[in-house]
Amino acid sequence: MSTTGRRTFLKGAGLGAAALTLGAGAARAAEKERVVVGVIGTGGMGMHHVRQLAARKDVEVAYVCDVDQKRLADASKHVESTTKKAPKAVKDMRQVLEDRNVQAVFIATPDHWHAPAAILALDAGKHVYVEKPCCHNIREGLLMADAVQRSGKLLQVGTQSRSTAVVQEAMRRVLEGEIGEVLVAKSWNSQLRRSIGKTKVSKPPATLDFDLWLGPVPPVPYRANLLPGIWRWWYDFGCGDIGNDGVHDIDVACWGLGVTGHPERIVCLGGKYFFDDDQQWPDTQYAVFEYPESGKSKQKRQLIFEQRIWSPYVQEGYENGAAFYGTKGMLIIGHSVGWKLYGLRNKLIAEKTGKADLVAHHTNFLDCVRGDQKKLNADVMAGHLSATLVHLANIATRVGRALRFDPKTEQVVEDTEAAALVRRKYREGHWATPKGV
Ligand SMILES: NC(=O)c1ccc[n+]([C@@H]2O[C@H](COP(=O)([O-])OP(=O)(O)OC[C@H]3O[C@@H](n4cnc5c(N)ncnc54)[C@H](O)[C@@H]3O)[C@@H](O)[C@H]2O)c1
Repeated sequence: MSTTGRRTFLKGAGLGAAALTLGAGAARAAEKERVVVGVIGTGGMGMHHVRQLAARKDVEVAYVCDVDQKRLADASKHVESTTKKAPKAVKDMRQVLEDRNVQAVFIATPDHWHAPAAILALDAGKHVYVEKPCCHNIREGLLMADAVQRSGKLLQVGTQSRSTAVVQEAMRRVLEGEIGEVLVAKSWNSQLRRSIGKTKVSKPPATLDFDLWLGPVPPVPYRANLLPGIWRWWYDFGCGDIGNDGVHDIDVACWGLGVTGHPERIVCLGGKYFFDDDQQWPDTQYAVFEYPESGKSKQKRQLIFEQRIWSPYVQEGYENGAAFYGTKGMLIIGHSVGWKLYGLRNKLIAEKTGKADLVAHHTNFLDCVRGDQKKLNADVMAGHLSATLVHLANIATRVGRALRFDPKTEQVVEDTEAAALVRRKYREGHWATPKGV
């Protein structure tokens, strides 16, 4: 609807005076057409989406979908009590995707389901909002980008910093050259995690359809330290903390560094230096990615990532964050905290505080679905570029060698063992295995 159209609509509906007393944002939301959505995966993050979406006037949560009956019932109850209308509650995502009324899906499953579910949804004609990291391996990221192109549908990745005004301002200042040319960016994940312990194979909870939870992954037995949310520390299902909290700040580092492609050389040292538990991914990592020549000066660029998830203290003032080292100054940004911009000899030039804005990220996606906004803030390529850094660092750590990567073919070169980790194995003939893997 055009701006004039909107004003006429408000007047015609007798809402002109009321709109003056509402906040501008609320008035805008009330007048927008409703986007019909389904939320797939209603666990920890999925419930954040459910709560925010159910509270919006411009969204109808028509479906909630989870393979755990308890989580499904909780999500359904929440939507019904907020909107006074019960959503359809289903455990098989295919029921959501088959419904022609559903325009968009929000996918907040474990990482191993992100690309399979997103590709199925795009091919079913749905717009997709998928949690970060957008894929479980590099190959899946490329297949998702192909599916976006083939379907003509939109895909937003759940890196909400991209829609957060305070972060957008920091990145604008960096990209407009306020700290000179940025040749090196660094992001870090420095926090204190808990051990996941050691467990034996056991029976899955009665409420969980574990076979559907596994989906296209070759079956492995259930164990108690897979849930809730602990799957992220296992090779088959997650990407470690670099792909969990790390990818938010890696994504910001990519953004401010202004890179639009992949790095060519990668080193990453790390391993389990601290935890003695079942966790498979490293608790300690130091990665350096080198990008080919680009920008005005045609220089190479470097992105560094540091992770120590056994740190009872912050780094550079922030638990998680990113720093941009320019030729005239530097900017340091804390995840969901704010930033400080320094000039020569560390003179503080500007600073701002502010939290990550999930609602703004939803709004950007929903506005694009309706055609009210043209540009997604975190499209598939942005998500694929930052997820690829996660995967490359993890591959380099696993094989214990420096990697050479071909940014065009997205293949690790001259290293067969590392090249094999660009993709994964799927369950033979499973309906959700992405086409072309
Ligand atoms: N953007 C953010 O700030 C943010 C924060 C936390 C988590 N996340 C992301 O959200 C995702 C979920 O993380 P979480 O901590 O909520 O995990 P979780 O384990 O609490 O939730 C995942 C849910 O998905 C369900 N599920 C699994 N397979 C399914 C399937 N085939 N169909 C439907 N439901 C299925 C599970 O039963 C569970 O309820 C992860 O990818 C994570 O990286 C993002």
